Amino acid sequence: MSDLSPLSVFGLAGKSAIVTGAGSGIGKATATLFTQVGARVLFVDIDPDAVSEAAEACQSPYTVCDISDEAQVIATFDRAKALFGGVDVLANVAAYRRKADTMTMPASEWDIMHAVTTRGTFLMMREAIKIMRDQDSGGAIVNVSSVSADHPTIFNNTHYDSAKAGVDAMTRAAAVEFAEHGIRVNSIQPGGTASGGAKRMGSEIQMRGPMTAPGRIPLGRISDPIEQARAILFLASDAASYITGHHLTVDGGYRVS
Ligand SMILES: NC(=O)c1ccc[n+]([C@@H]2O[C@H](COP(=O)([O-])OP(=O)(O)OC[C@H]3O[C@@H](n4cnc5c(N)ncnc54)[C@H](O)[C@@H]3O)[C@@H](O)[C@H]2O)c1
Repeated sequence: MSDLSPLSVFGLAGKSAIVTGAGSGIGKATATLFTQVGARVLFVDIDPDAVSEAAEACQSPYTVCDISDEAQVIATFDRAKALFGGVDVLANVAAYRRKADTMTMPASEWDIMHAVTTRGTFLMMREAIKIMRDQDSGGAIVNVSSVSADHPTIFNNTHYDSAKAGVDAMTRAAAVEFAEHGIRVNSIQPGGTASGGAKRMGSEIQMRGPMTAPGRIPLGRISDPIEQARAILFLASDAASYITGHHLTVDGGYRVS
């Protein structure tokens, strides 16, 4: 922790960061916000057009990477090391988002969900921790889970809920195992958020389930991606220096309603 003045602890001045899913929605809002609060950010996404556009708008570097592919993940961290010399913050935002009818879902759909969302998050964490472990300053990892990891939200999402529960389990395990190296690992659990991905998902299968019940979200609306990005920034920043192994729910009160 270099500067502990009251407002600077909420920023990322001088830090280097990797953000996955940076081409759309919450990942794009997070990567953009990180640049605005002083970080050097490597934008990462599987979609070349989306990630180049998002990164270029912030005059930042980007890498096209499928986070479920081990070689591509290792190459991404090699690039970050070459660009920044180290990695202080990792925001794991990318995930597979397609819904599938629970009773007719092919096993291949289950497998790709877990390949991207759990295996991909694991690979990114593993490579980040290798670097952070060798830095005196440690590091901060923020995984994006979902309120549905432990509280059902919509139907036809069994594979997604399972994968996100895995993300939270990895978050707790890594928080405990790597705390001695000064590495904090937390997650956010977003509720419904108006991203490009969420809109596509809604049009694939009719949205039904507890979260869609009228009046179920006390704040009366779903979130904007920037509201999730701000929670990720908080956990990534020195303002959260004594928080690790935590799942921060950002759901407009849905979970307690
Ligand atoms: N939007 C919501 O309502 C909501 C709710 C709870 C949790 N979340 C979580 O928030 C995160 C972001 O969601 P979003 O709604 O902004 O999604 P989005 O679909 O708008 O963006 C996701 C991005 O991830 C990228 N991506 C997908 N597969 C990838 C892969 N294999 N490798 C690298 N990049 C890949 C996509 O190209 C896309 O740019 C996800 O983890 C999602 O599960 C979203």
